[in-house]
Order: sequence, then C-alpha cells, then structure tokens
Amino acid sequence: MKMLAPLAGKHNVTDFEALRQTFEWSQMERDFSWFHTGKLNAAYEAIDRHAENPAKADQLALIFQDGQTEEKWTFTQLKERSNQAANMLKSLGAAKGDRVFLFMPRCPDFYASFFGILKIGAVAGPLFEAFMEQAVEDRLKDSGASILITTAELLQRVNRDNLPELKEVIVLECETDGVHDYTELMDQASTEFEPVWLDKEDGMLLHYTSGSTGKPKGVYHAHRAMIQHYATGKWILDLQEDDVYWCTADPGWVTGTSYGIFGPWLNGATNVIAGGRFTPEAWYKIIEKHKVTVWYTAPTALRKLAAAGDEVAHSHDLSSLRHVLSVGEPLNPEIIYWAEEVYGKRIHDTWWMTETGAMLIVNHPTLSIKPGAMGKPIPGVEAAIIDDAGNVLPAHTSGNLAVKAGWPSMMKTIWGNQEKFDSYFINGWYVSGDSAKMDEEGYFWFEGRLDDVINTSGKLVGPFEVESKLIEHYAVTEAAVIGKPDEERGEIIKAFITLDKGHKDSMELREEIRQFIKKGLSAHAAPREIEIVTSIPKTRSGKIMRRLLRAKELGLPLGDTSTLEE
Ligand code: PRX
Repeated sequence: MKMLAPLAGKHNVTDFEALRQTFEWSQMERDFSWFHTGKLNAAYEAIDRHAENPAKADQLALIFQDGQTEEKWTFTQLKERSNQAANMLKSLGAAKGDRVFLFMPRCPDFYASFFGILKIGAVAGPLFEAFMEQAVEDRLKDSGASILITTAELLQRVNRDNLPELKEVIVLECETDGVHDYTELMDQASTEFEPVWLDKEDGMLLHYTSGSTGKPKGVYHAHRAMIQHYATGKWILDLQEDDVYWCTADPGWVTGTSYGIFGPWLNGATNVIAGGRFTPEAWYKIIEKHKVTVWYTAPTALRKLAAAGDEVAHSHDLSSLRHVLSVGEPLNPEIIYWAEEVYGKRIHDTWWMTETGAMLIVNHPTLSIKPGAMGKPIPGVEAAIIDDAGNVLPAHTSGNLAVKAGWPSMMKTIWGNQEKFDSYFINGWYVSGDSAKMDEEGYFWFEGRLDDVINTSGKLVGPFEVESKLIEHYAVTEAAVIGKPDEERGEIIKAFITLDKGHKDSMELREEIRQFIKKGLSAHAAPREIEIVTSIPKTRSGKIMRRLLRAKELGLPLGDTSTLEE
C-alpha cells in the first residue's frame, strides 16, 4: 500500500500524537468567555465575539454565491442581522427551549435566522430544502416545533392542518395571508440584542437522522458541542485567521451546521456559502473566484468531479487550495490518488455521525495518510473495535466501531425517546452501528453499516421511512427497501414491492411509484430500482428480512434463514 506523506506547511497542531497523549477537554474551555462567567451562548462565541473585536469586526464572515447572485456580510453585519432575527422571534413570543425550524434554501438569511434562534435560547431545527410534504410533517410534528421560517415556495409543502403545535409561520418573499412577512418583521426589529446566557447542557440544535427502524429520530445537541466544533475546526480543518473556507454540505444535514457554521466561525474564518445546483464548473469557479483555501466536501462530489475529467479541473485556477477534507461515506483510495495528481492535494478523510456532533476519527494534516483508512481518533477521544458484549477486540479484527462516552459534542438525547438514546451504549461505549477494523498503528478502516440504513450519495436513508411511504401508493401492498452498491453514489435504493390485485407490472407504474416517493419524501429517498415480487420475506414475527433480499440481489450466501416465515 502506498502511504502519503503529511501535508507540508505550518499547522495549528504540529505534534498530533503528543496532543493525543496529553489533551483533556477542560483545556479547551479556557478559550471561551464562559470559562470566566460560567454561562455561554454558541451564537455569541461564533459571531458576536468577533464583531466586538476591532481587528475582526469588518472581516468578511460570509460570502454567499448562487449563480450570479453574490452577497458578502462582515461579522458585524451577521451580528446585527441575527440580533434582528432574535428580536423578531421574541416579538412573536418565542422563548428558551422552543423549537424553531428553518426550511429554506441556503441564503444569508438562513444564517441570520439560525443565530437569532440560538440567541434567544431556542432550539434550531434546520430542514433540508429538498424535503417534501411527508418528510417535513414528520419532523415538525415529532419536535413539536412552534415556529417555522420558510419561503413562499417551500410553504406549499407544509401541511399546517396536521401541525397543531405550529403557532407561527414566517415567510421570506411573502405573498400569503395568515403568515408573517419575514422582511417586514426584520425591518422593524432592532439590531441590538443581548444573547440569553445559557448552560453548557442547554439545547441548541435538532437534526433528524435515519435508523433502520421507525421514522427519522431527532438527534438533540447541546451548546457544549461548540467546544469540539471549535477544537476540530482548529486542529483538523487547521483553520487560520486569513483562511477562506468552504463546506459544501447543506445546513439541513449535520456537516452543514457543525462545519458549515460552527467550525469556521468559532475560529473566525471567512465562510463561503454556495447555493444552486452542483456542476463541476460551478464548483471549481467558487474555489477560483473566492480563492478558497480549506475545502470540506464529500466522496460523492469528488467522484462526480473525477468523472467530469481532468480537463475541467485544469481549466480553473485551484492553486489557492491548501487543505482538502472529506466526510460522509467511504473515501475511495482511487479518489485520493486522483486528487493528488489533478489538484496536487491529498484528501483528508474524517469520520463521525449526526449523533456524535463532530469529527472523531481523522487524518490530521501531520499524519501520513493510508488511503482507505479513516485515520485516528482526535485528541480527547478514545475509539475501539468491540464485540457485541462490549469487549475490546485486538487489532485487525472486525467488529463494532465504538467510542468511549464523554466527548463534548455528543448528542444530549434522542428527542422524546430516551430509551432509544440509551440503546446506543454498551459498557460506557457509544456503539456507532458501523463495522470497522483497527490496524497495529491505530488507524481505523471502515467496513460497512451493521444495520439496514442506506448511505446514498452521503445521505442516510432509513428503509422503514421509504417502505411506509411506498405502501401508501394505491397499487402497492407490501414493500421492502435495501441499499445496492453503486460506483458513483456509494449505494442506490432498491425497492421490492408486491402489487395489489388488479395492478400489473409496467414501466409506467414503476415510474409513477418512484415519483410518488420523490414528491412525498424527497428525491434522494426515491428508489432508483423497483422490482415487483410475489412476496416479501419476513420473520415469523413479521419483520421484513432485508438482509435476505440484499444477499439475493448481490449473489451472496443467504445465511441463517431459520426465522423465515413459511
Ligand atoms: O456509516 C458511516 C458513514 O456515515 C454515517 C453517519 O452518517 P450521518 O449521521 O448522516 O453523518 C454524516 C456526516 C458526519 C456513519 O455511521 N460515514 C461517515 N463518515 C464516513 C462514513 N463512512 C466511511 N468513511 C467516512 N469517513
């Protein structure tokens, strides 16, 4: 195996191994005001603190680019806009602990609203803009959201009749009766606001993620998570004061908040926010135009960029790039080699989850990269491979990738479901649901998910959510959904369905069913393949045996079939 040498240049942490031996989280808290006051607010630490510093007040916090639209805000402007948002929410009666949801495309006002929510001590719930009616309703209902900020277009996907707890709706580009006009309320609101001072444990953020059973679960994060966002922004993203940073993830997903908001701004970097559709040209133009130095992206995007060919890359000036990182799915070694050749940069893989809130296993810039390995645990984090009883397994043995509980960005709980939260742990280890191995040097190697959760283009999809929607279609009786390996997307969704009597298999029907999911849930949850079958394999207790369908699909041994119903 080819090892790649550490990244050249000056780094915030020069001896990663030494820091791993000695670091304790309490050391990091000294960098924040609450170390002295005992109270904090992540919005203050990320934005106001810089706006109050004469050396940083006029530095660009945000550069927004969407096609030809460009907007730039300094730290002072972001502070004032978020103060207005805080006052707007307060005027509608929002208070500490309320869930305020954001359903809008990436735009500067998303970030103003996000920090406004945090400043009043409320809990922010960002929704991915591609979610359709059912996905939106499930999340708003489960969280008991009382306020929603959205756009006129996306409001059409919000079925307010089914959401009795949703009291107020604020709409950008408002043309609707019965809702509040965002622009009007913001214009009336003062730019002065004293953030509500909170405790480390106070709730900050809700991100919904998919499991293999049930509807998506609300992963509930506390303000303390910012300690690790700050630390990993400094150590792993290696952010320095003059960096122009770009995280390609949408803030509807955890990468887009932990590292599209907190990591860069807690470290005072200039944060590029790109809207619009992905095309290789558009993305390279962002790097070229804004001279991006640190870039955090995902394997799916990198695979698409590689497939677009070297020529598009070479026709843009990407020389500003200093450090490139990836997250969300296995990073193929070929992509690392390709990037090294075409960008002249290695790609640093990082591993973590919605539940863990921040990076846990990483390729630090000063570590040699072993292509295919996710790297080593960050300072202050102990990871291991354990068996199902919680025993630590020796090197080179496959097992559960687990992390010793106690890192700052760990979720508080699963919203409204403490039992689910408790089920993540064995003997004080957080069990990730991923299978992996560790080698003799302490690098971790990803193997796959141990449950039925599908990772398609870096987005987790729970089979249950798709199956539930499929059987709502008039022609479908039963459905089972699996992930099928795919070169570009990692996995694609394949659905097996049985048809109601009177319906026959046809291309048109399958396409109609696909569109039904696309319009009801979201485009990324729509099955790319649908197969009509005469029955769905189930256990005697009625559980769908997706494992059997997957084995059959991939031509693998069927394994234990003793629980299969007749
Ligand atoms: O299976 C692992 C995969 O993505 C899962 C977490 O997904 P999500 O909660 O949506 O968060 C994604 C962004 C933090 C993990 O359980 N995953 C994440 N990073 C990697 C990965 N698989 C392989 N390599 C990675 N670097």
